[in-house]
Amino acid sequence: MFDLERFVADCRAAHAQDRSHKAVREVLAGALAAPRSILKALGEPKRAQIEALHRSASLTLLNVVWAPRMTIYPHNHHMWAVIGIYTGREDNIFWRRLPGGRREAAGAQSMCEREACPLGPEIIHSVVNPIPRLTGAIHVYGGDFFAAERSEWDQETLAEQRYDPEKTVRYFEEANRSLLTTGLSVA
Ligand SMILES: [Fe+2]
Repeated sequence: MFDLERFVADCRAAHAQDRSHKAVREVLAGALAAPRSILKALGEPKRAQIEALHRSASLTLLNVVWAPRMTIYPHNHHMWAVIGIYTGREDNIFWRRLPGGRREAAGAQSMCEREACPLGPEIIHSVVNPIPRLTGAIHVYGGDFFAAERSEWDQETLAEQRYDPEKTVRYFEEANRSLLTTGLSVA
């Protein structure tokens, strides 16, 4: 049975032992062996959201829910991450910098339910929920996700700009407004 308090404590203990992503990834992978149990504990996703489950200077745990077909623009984190899907799917596109400030897509990774996928600290990625229902994922970051200075890239021009957390909040709310028009319930 997934217990959120125990899970957070286990992640913190693992991270105290090993500051890389590896030990935390094992904890997350263990929890993901029973994704229905996570779903029951966190609640069936009803709206797109970024919910903090734990936040400290060295470790952040989020419950991220993507709206159906939602795409989030390219961004970086400047810290390692582990993405664990407990319901639905994510497709990630990875981007690399080219001379002259240009960017190009450098690879992709499909992420499925029960998988715990590590991302390196310098990764630039965009994320798509490719399915017509909400996707729920636990994201673990090796730092304070909300305090880090980082970048995002314009979806149309791929121009780099300073990451704007308020824009992200607005983007998720727009996704929820779109959800309402589809007739799906939004809490
Ligand atoms: Fe990300």
